[in-house]
Amino acid sequence: MSDLLIHDINELVICRSAQGYRRGAEQLNDLEVLHDAAVAIERGRIVEIGENSLLQSKYRQVRHKVSAGGRLVSPGLVDCHSHLVHAGSRHDEYDHIVTGRREPGKNLDRGILRSVRRTREATNEALEAQALKDLDTMLEHGSTTVEIKTGYGLDRANELRLLKLQTSLEHEVDLARTFLGAHILPDEYRHDREGYVQLVIDMLEGAREYAEFCDVCCDPVGFTYQECLRIAERAMDLGMNVKVHGDQTGPGRGAELAARVGATSVDHLDYISDEGVAELSVSECVGVLLPAVTLHLLEMTPSCLEGDWVDAKKSFMTALYRRLVNENLILAISADYNPGSSPTLSMQMTMQLAARLFRASYAEIWHMSTINAAKALGRSDQIGSVEPGKRADLIIWDVPEHGMVINRFGSNLVDTVVKGGRIVVRDGRKLREASL
Ligand code: NIG
Ligand code: FE
Repeated sequence: MSDLLIHDINELVICRSAQGYRRGAEQLNDLEVLHDAAVAIERGRIVEIGENSLLQSKYRQVRHKVSAGGRLVSPGLVDCHSHLVHAGSRHDEYDHIVTGRREPGKNLDRGILRSVRRTREATNEALEAQALKDLDTMLEHGSTTVEIKTGYGLDRANELRLLKLQTSLEHEVDLARTFLGAHILPDEYRHDREGYVQLVIDMLEGAREYAEFCDVCCDPVGFTYQECLRIAERAMDLGMNVKVHGDQTGPGRGAELAARVGATSVDHLDYISDEGVAELSVSECVGVLLPAVTLHLLEMTPSCLEGDWVDAKKSFMTALYRRLVNENLILAISADYNPGSSPTLSMQMTMQLAARLFRASYAEIWHMSTINAAKALGRSDQIGSVEPGKRADLIIWDVPEHGMVINRFGSNLVDTVVKGGRIVVRDGRKLREASL
């Protein structure tokens, strides 16, 4: 007997794919939508989807019924890239950046290193409280699975502390945990790159107990191809999967590195090379694009020169996006929540920005934030679509049609979130205790 029937669904967005991802314009634009539908759930998993009246009579005996009230139901959103655990906001720097009142040069107490300093100073309790609060907001905006990274510790004790903290977080959102020791060179190692790269390699042995993925920043502001290769190879020897921050602020051969080591994903890609495009187009490594970063950084980008900002026109992102679709890359989108380049918790807004900044179609955006984002976490056999056998992570939206989630913007359109078959958000608010 089924535990829960969600009925009276106007549109059910399915997002399934036999191979666990969709690539190329044709697959991405073939959005399956079931009209006048219902979903039956048992022990946290979807058991059947189908026509509303048919399922209503088949599951007459169901323990709980939830009416979608003629609205839209979709898979829970998968946010496959976030820097969740950190201390402090950098909104004051942003004011200087957008108004052009940026002081060039020496002051290192800004940017990522400032967040590193504050995170090191913060107590576990403060970091945990903030992370849990942020996860509540992510869930209320529709994210049911979120990837989280270290990367604001950058020494042995603090990276380990963040890894443990990430592991001990108890929240309804499912977490995928990543070690990002190779985020940026910490200040203490300014004159000893090799020493820090070796330290990251040494930290991997301890990190693998807490993290499924090892991320490396293969970018002019981070580490070189060769440095990242050494770290990634050691991580793989230890049984970790690899993710790459690649080619964000300039060409860094990040995409080539990701293809070479068989990374699960390579994220950013603003300055991907032609070789990188060609290699990813025949690989199963997911290219993760971050439209909220494109919006937030406006036409500027951090440079490797002591935290300075340089002008960087980003109008090419629209054409780049279309090229990556046409070249058959597996593409996903993510909010990339962090205090610098993307201080947003909302995957929903990220979807809205993908349409406006990349001119992605509604169908492409739904696939990139569900099944393909699940693939970017190696989890598309479990989540990312509404089909029998998958975890019952579902959203009842406060609109009747899938295009409205992307066309409207600026307010939260989530009504109910079902996580593993239980209601965790109602009326857009997280419940103190899951119901059902
Ligand atoms: O994903 N190398 C880039 N890292 C982050 C930015 C982190 C921050 O600014 O604190 C990114 O954009
Ligand atoms: Fe990032």
